Amino acid sequence: MAGLGGDTPLKLAVFISGRGSNMQALIDACARDDYPAKIELVLSNKADAAGIERAQKSGLKTAIISHRDFEDRAAFEQAILDTLAGHDIDLICLAGFMRILSPHFIKNWAGMIINIHPSLLPAYKGTDTHARVLADGGKESGCSVHFVVPEVDAGEIILQRRVDVLEGDTPETLAARILEQEHIAYPEAVLKIARGEVKPPPKNAVE
Ligand code: GRF
Repeated sequence: MAGLGGDTPLKLAVFISGRGSNMQALIDACARDDYPAKIELVLSNKADAAGIERAQKSGLKTAIISHRDFEDRAAFEQAILDTLAGHDIDLICLAGFMRILSPHFIKNWAGMIINIHPSLLPAYKGTDTHARVLADGGKESGCSVHFVVPEVDAGEIILQRRVDVLEGDTPETLAARILEQEHIAYPEAVLKIARGEVKPPPKNAVE
């Protein structure tokens, strides 16, 4: 993987499906002279994702690959793999990408895909994390950046940031406070990988 702990910037593909605020945090980090990564491609499965407009405003290359245009997941993912092959990418950053990637896809990019999840994994895998934390009377929550393995939200954790659950929190207020931490966590996690401080999991961990 070029860029890992070396002088060449780590080249990122950022996958989004929506507003792209975590992608924006990566764009802002990559704009810093001393930040050892750059975004080569922003890929969305939704043409109307607000994040695509943000990416274009920043002059980034974008690709729209809609899952609806393909017969099945294998064909959709093959189109993504083909698109990635046309770019020089070291690391895929999932940032609110709302399609589950198959083991086949993940093995193709073994150890080179990371994700941000709005809970303190391994707690609260899956969706609706904030509502579930509140329903359980949780006192603390946060976000996790982790390597992607075939089991959803189960890969090795790169870093986490925590927030207290406050009296009167709703899923929305808790989500907003955690999102602020996500915007710090994601660029920090990419920085750790680019500096070689975190090694991708061995390939057999992705089997
Ligand atoms: C974030 O909460 C992230 O943790 C989750 O999806 C949301 C994406 O938000 N995976 P954004 O598109 O980055 O604003």
